[in-house]
Amino acid sequence: MIFLKTDEEIELLRESNLILGKALAEVAKAIVPGVTTAQLDKIAEEYIRDNGAIPSCKGYEGYPATLCTSVNEQVVHGIPSDKVYLKDGDIISVDTCVLKNGFHGDSAYTFPVGEVSDDVMTLLRTTKQCLYLGIEQAVTGKRIGDIAATIQITAEKAGYQVVREFIGHGIGRDMHEDPEVPNYGRRGNGVVLKSGMVIAIEPMIMSGRRNIIIENDGWTARAADRKPAAHYELSVAVRNGKADILSTFDYIKEVLGERYI
Ligand code: MF3
Ligand code: CO
Repeated sequence: MIFLKTDEEIELLRESNLILGKALAEVAKAIVPGVTTAQLDKIAEEYIRDNGAIPSCKGYEGYPATLCTSVNEQVVHGIPSDKVYLKDGDIISVDTCVLKNGFHGDSAYTFPVGEVSDDVMTLLRTTKQCLYLGIEQAVTGKRIGDIAATIQITAEKAGYQVVREFIGHGIGRDMHEDPEVPNYGRRGNGVVLKSGMVIAIEPMIMSGRRNIIIENDGWTARAADRKPAAHYELSVAVRNGKADILSTFDYIKEVLGERYI
């Protein structure tokens, strides 16, 4: 069942996403060679709680942390650890959810650590482009398949592959609501989009083959071929004419300056 949100509810969703966007920027400040992913997790949890919100990944189906921190060939759901040190040339996808006033925000960003190879930067740029081109389709009268196909075509044209096992989703009072928002599909297929639907669009793009393996921790999804993967996510409200992006990368942009892509 799809819950359409009122304008008031959309403003509450924007508030949760704003805290989330600022929390990701606090994490961005700390992403340097030598930091551990557990340190990043602590920064995010403190920021979210200090702003009167709840880090809602923590405890979700038993997930143990605030952030998902997925390094290099890890695609999603990497668990922060005091044994994982970031090093120059790595990439790290940071994904989290924030709950405030009964509504969840959900957003993710893949950061380069220090100097990253040109090939990997192209993966990051393309994945971000998949996200924004997908968002352009999130308007009244289009269908889920229009978002899905746009993302898939953009990724595959660049020689990349799209994850099948994890998808975007509706979001609101629950972190995961209907409709499903896959990153693969056909134009003109699926649910018709209506103003007031709120969805998290989250392309997860593999530089190698799309097969993934779940590590023994039961969470971490990584590329079977150990090639790098990227993940960007924004929560958006479907509107007439133009999607309303509720999450924000603006604060990350301030932190990264000319390194922002
Ligand atoms: N933020 C993730 C998503 O995009 C959910 C993470 S799963 C969790 O749907 F267990 F970490 F919460
Ligand atoms: Co999500």
